[in-house]
Amino acid sequence: MTSIIAVNDSSREEIFPELTRDVIDRMKDAESARLREILELVVGHVHAIVREAKITHDEWWQAIDFLTRAGKMCSDSRQEFILLSDILGISMLVDAIDHVGGPGLSESTVLGPFYAGQQRELAAGESILLREEQSDPLEMRGRVTDSQGRPIANALVEVWQTAPNQLYDVQDEDQPDGHLRGSFRTDGAGTYRFRTITPVSYPIPNDGPAGQLLAAMGRHPFRPAHIHFMISAPGYRMLVTHLFLDGDKYLGSDAVFGVKPSLIIRPRLIEGINTVEYDFGLADERESTRAQVEEIHRQRREL
Ligand code: BEZ
Ligand code: FE
Repeated sequence: MTSIIAVNDSSREEIFPELTRDVIDRMKDAESARLREILELVVGHVHAIVREAKITHDEWWQAIDFLTRAGKMCSDSRQEFILLSDILGISMLVDAIDHVGGPGLSESTVLGPFYAGQQRELAAGESILLREEQSDPLEMRGRVTDSQGRPIANALVEVWQTAPNQLYDVQDEDQPDGHLRGSFRTDGAGTYRFRTITPVSYPIPNDGPAGQLLAAMGRHPFRPAHIHFMISAPGYRMLVTHLFLDGDKYLGSDAVFGVKPSLIIRPRLIEGINTVEYDFGLADERESTRAQVEEIHRQRREL
């Protein structure tokens, strides 16, 4: 018979340690070494949480019910698991591991659930509005370059933002599809330019399990005003980021932890219109992420 209590080195009781070893041992024939590596960590850490927090049947049922409700909330236009990943800081952590940073390169941030695929391509300087809005106009312009500041021509610059009613077109039946979204191509000097309106802060969808979790943690659901950018060009790593408006009261408490100082913009009045000039630096496809660099170090240590 197996004992369900063991005493480990630090003389703290560990409940049922052989169960954890058994679950991990039975993965030894897994086809993918990477999947086995990750699942070993998942099982080890989740078992440790259950032990340390002394989870009861009732609490575990609540967790399963929560995840079940999150799954049922998902549809083509709603992704509750992205929201959960975002509000728990997991999306930003994955991004910190898998993004290439460094001098001359722009910082990235969360994608969020409201990217709606590539939109109509507009000419430089055109507006991304499909209807009038009672809001201050804003002109965005700048360059897309490599880490050395050399222009990247023909880069695809995709942008999207909320309307003044705090909703994206995909959340609001009254907005025309594609309102406040657009794609642009940089010219030979790497420049992009478009017209929009000043973005507003807004609450992330909080009528489901993610919203309940935020409330239970004593947190608000707001994101500071921002414009989303997704920039891609052959030979370069895709950049997913936002630009945030300076002065927003939620800059210090973004519900999804997405704000970085280098992404905060201050519009200036140029020829009577609020204008932002912002350059984006893209990493070469061959530059390594932090995860890749650490893997190389790990392999070298094992040699
Ligand atoms: C967004 O900025 O669109 C967003 C990001 C994370 C969660 C919800 C919305
Ligand atoms: Fe957003």
